[in-house]
Amino acid sequence: MTEVNQRHVSYDEIVSDLRTNATLAAAGEVPKEELSRHVGAEFKSSRILIQDSRNRATVITSPGGSPGDPHIHPDFNEWFMGFGDVMGFLVGEYTPFRATFGDIVVAPCGYRHTPLAWYGQMCMRLVCTKPGSNHDIKGIEPSRTVRLDPDWEPPNRILTPLPYMIERQGLDNDWQESVLHDQRNRVEMFNVMPGSSAESVNGDTESWWVVLKGNVRFEIAGDVVDASKGSVVYSGDGEWSAISATGPGSAVFVEVADPESC
Ligand SMILES: [Fe+2]
Repeated sequence: MTEVNQRHVSYDEIVSDLRTNATLAAAGEVPKEELSRHVGAEFKSSRILIQDSRNRATVITSPGGSPGDPHIHPDFNEWFMGFGDVMGFLVGEYTPFRATFGDIVVAPCGYRHTPLAWYGQMCMRLVCTKPGSNHDIKGIEPSRTVRLDPDWEPPNRILTPLPYMIERQGLDNDWQESVLHDQRNRVEMFNVMPGSSAESVNGDTESWWVVLKGNVRFEIAGDVVDASKGSVVYSGDGEWSAISATGPGSAVFVEVADPESC
């Protein structure tokens, strides 16, 4: 069973946890409310991976076609990462769009939003919310829709697809670029060539990483963690870290850090 703020959780562990919990909930063996804070379909579950001073990061799964739960957050920007199968998102007045693994979605403060399980048996999203947040404010359905602006540059695009970043920067040399930057987080995407190290921007406060492609070695406070696609890695206050790509091929990952400390 995955613990909160575990040093390393592999993608397989996350999927296994979610599948087990969803099966128990669907069978009525565990109250759905214990496994998910969200109202929705059967075969739905969630697992909190990170709970620190700034964020609560949870992976949620539900089958394609499950109902959504539109709501707003009046005091923070919420963001999501597609984590498996195909998700759909309604954000503010924007035309509905889809997100798959590694794509980042921002629901700006005050924008009504609805993550929707779109296609697949386990439509997964990692939601990064503020600790203590809820779905109490439902907001109002927009009266029109507008297209996402394709020329909007990072950071803080409503949708930042992973393929867009790879096409924008390439995979042939080291790079990093902020994909989200607000008062709560700085989310930095890296591409690191095999044998190279990343210039991590994490500081004295908690940081965590999600590997999107390739193989990454994290050395954190004496622990050596070999992480791959879908791994989530956590570092606590003041824990020094070194990050390198072990190949083959480059590694792409995001780092979630305190914007005040970097
Ligand atoms: Fe939300």
